[in-house]
Amino acid sequence: MEIDLQGLTSIVCGSTQGIGWATAEMMANSGARIMLIARNKEKLEGLVHQLPNQHLQHEYLDADFSEPHLLSEKLEKLPHDGDWSNILVNNTGGPKGGPANQADLEEFRIAFNAHLICNQIMLKFAMPKMVRDKFGRVINIISTSVKQPIPGLGVSNTIRGAVANWSKTIAGELGPEGITVNNVLPGATQTARLESLVMSKAKKEGKSVEEVEEAMKSNIPARRFGSAEEIANAILFLASRQAGYINGVNLPVDGGRTSTL
Ligand SMILES: NC(=O)c1ccc[n+]([C@@H]2O[C@H](COP(=O)([O-])OP(=O)(O)OC[C@H]3O[C@@H](n4cnc5c(N)ncnc54)[C@H](OP(=O)(O)O)[C@@H]3O)[C@@H](O)[C@H]2O)c1
Repeated sequence: MEIDLQGLTSIVCGSTQGIGWATAEMMANSGARIMLIARNKEKLEGLVHQLPNQHLQHEYLDADFSEPHLLSEKLEKLPHDGDWSNILVNNTGGPKGGPANQADLEEFRIAFNAHLICNQIMLKFAMPKMVRDKFGRVINIISTSVKQPIPGLGVSNTIRGAVANWSKTIAGELGPEGITVNNVLPGATQTARLESLVMSKAKKEGKSVEEVEEAMKSNIPARRFGSAEEIANAILFLASRQAGYINGVNLPVDGGRTSTL
């Protein structure tokens, strides 16, 4: 199946590395005009020139999702050319680890802002074009914890559940407008996020990084970690015209790790 995104615009949040960058690269390669979003302006400036199909005049916005009001202000200041966006990939850094019962209120507030509130801000920004074109794809990068909480990721498990329910709700509301809203749930994916989780687990348990990695892989039927490109493949498909009848789903891309249906 050939995925053609020509004529479409796509905002990919959290796109200076990992799953976000792999997605932006693939979408640009399929013909979409991309807006990258993340905090590191220098990195964004470099990466926007590395995206395929440079004639599409990809853009970037530097914004910090832990400051939702600043994100809103920056979006309001963008030139109102009505170009953005047919596709919205909601993605940002994962919340800090640790058990939920030990977390302070601030950790919940930060994660709620970065994940749920910023997703809503981005949706409201992108929606007018989706409605006008009768074509919209919202894809939220969440976690398999929406199906099965992951021990040691208490704040994340909690906030991810809220995002999944927000997503299912708007999928029902926006379906008649030609907009689909779906969630991709990555399993253990080889990115900087996974590296830091493995390192802190190794430190906490007094084990080597290799020991921790092997133990994690033994719980995955595929017996390996996924790559950012494997997650991006699923995102690209959900963004495509071919996926128009898929709406409101949670799609685990986890090598079979999640033990629930
Ligand atoms: N990797 C895994 O194994 C795995 C598994 C399940 C779920 N996930 C989830 O999937 C998502 C993406 O994962 P990943 O592994 O690709 O993460 P990653 O490698 O840590 O990349 C995160 C991206 O988000 C940006 N970002 C981080 N904090 C931000 C903020 N406050 N405001 C705006 N942008 C921010 C980062 O760029 P800047 O630093 O420039 O802002 C970066 O581009 C995360 O929510 C993660 O928790 C990952």
